[in-house]
Amino acid sequence: MKAMDRLALHGGQPVRTKPWVSKYMGSEELGDVEKARVLDVLAKKRVFRYLPTGLETSECSALESEYRSFLGTEYALAVNSGTSALICALVACGVGPGDEVIIPAYTWVATAAAVTMVGAIPILCEIDESLTLDPKDMVKRITPRTRAIIAVHMRGISADMDAIMNVAREHGIRVIEDAAQANGGTYKGRMLGSIGDVGCFSLQQSKVITTGEGGMLVTNSEELWQRAVLYHDGAGYQFRFIERKIPAFPGQNYRLTELQAALSLGQLEKMPEILRKTHKNKETIVRGLKGQSKIGLAPVFGTEHDLGLSLVFYVADGTKAQEVVNALNAEGIQAFRVYDGEAKDQHIYINWEFLLAKRDPWGGNYPWSIADSEVEYSKDTCPATLDLLYRAVQVHLNHLVTDEDIDDLLVAVDKVATHLL
Ligand SMILES: Cc1ncc(COP(=O)(O)O)c(C=O)c1O
Repeated sequence: MKAMDRLALHGGQPVRTKPWVSKYMGSEELGDVEKARVLDVLAKKRVFRYLPTGLETSECSALESEYRSFLGTEYALAVNSGTSALICALVACGVGPGDEVIIPAYTWVATAAAVTMVGAIPILCEIDESLTLDPKDMVKRITPRTRAIIAVHMRGISADMDAIMNVAREHGIRVIEDAAQANGGTYKGRMLGSIGDVGCFSLQQSKVITTGEGGMLVTNSEELWQRAVLYHDGAGYQFRFIERKIPAFPGQNYRLTELQAALSLGQLEKMPEILRKTHKNKETIVRGLKGQSKIGLAPVFGTEHDLGLSLVFYVADGTKAQEVVNALNAEGIQAFRVYDGEAKDQHIYINWEFLLAKRDPWGGNYPWSIADSEVEYSKDTCPATLDLLYRAVQVHLNHLVTDEDIDDLLVAVDKVATHLL
């Protein structure tokens, strides 16, 4: 029986002394499978995707083929990061100078930066307790200049895609899914990334599976895919092998290497088992916390729509959130505030310094300088998001969480809630 009488913070016995699990998933599993695949590429001496021979059997092509089959999309394009996937997706959708793009106020800064990099204006939208776009607020942010919405499946939790798609279709607006943090997730049985016009994934180390840096773009539209292909590779090498059906335009170099693709293929094999465990763990944790009336959980947490990559719960205010975090840490459960008003976490709009200052890389204000209508950003642009994140407590989870870890977590949350809330 663990000591419940006194908080560890106040000199009581801590619930556990073992360190909490790391937040990494795929990278924790790097091993012989990936090693063999990477060594194979080195042995072939074929590290660049678009050599004139062997494209069909390249590692990047194989990775795209795997993504097409597990997501059920017609097209896939391997790129060198989630950021470049987003930029290609925006260009593919025809988003450009002066257009407005609705994004959640809580997402990695890359979502906002990608929008400005194609000359479009990010329009911030509130999130709700699911940590994803609030569809009710989203409707209010639509203007005649809105060209696209980026639905971010934050922390492995799917955005409300039915609501978002209905509104977008009604207004003729494109939907890009930013599934960087939700590789392998589903929404009502459909694979995340396959529901909007274009889906984007990241393969950076904090993600479900990784190749260090890497990304993937998927779509069912041949035209959007061809536009993305051209933008990801200014030389348009892929069009040596397939017919180009779109007019030429300049592109970048966002190509993925064969080594990274080979590593991803090894990781992809491991994804189902990683996600089976994170899903199951989160279900157990949320079930265990349902009786704890002093903390708030969103209905979506612990369901099909939640990959189970972290536990987030809400308390009354920021002061309580800080007390709970301190108390959980003392009990041996590594917990964090999502937003404490001080740390410059780049997931929260208030910390996107360039956006608040409307500053471009050259000292000017592009693209806001060409906007048809004045768009202002301040601390008050999305107050509901800040309030929610201010009173949110987060604990990282991964597939290595054991039944014993879950027991400790439940006991510790219960103990802290009983004493402090
Ligand atoms: C929600 C979200 N979007 C986009 C990105 C960008 O991905 P990358 O780091 O691979 O460029 C990330 C990665 O951190 C992310 O979490």
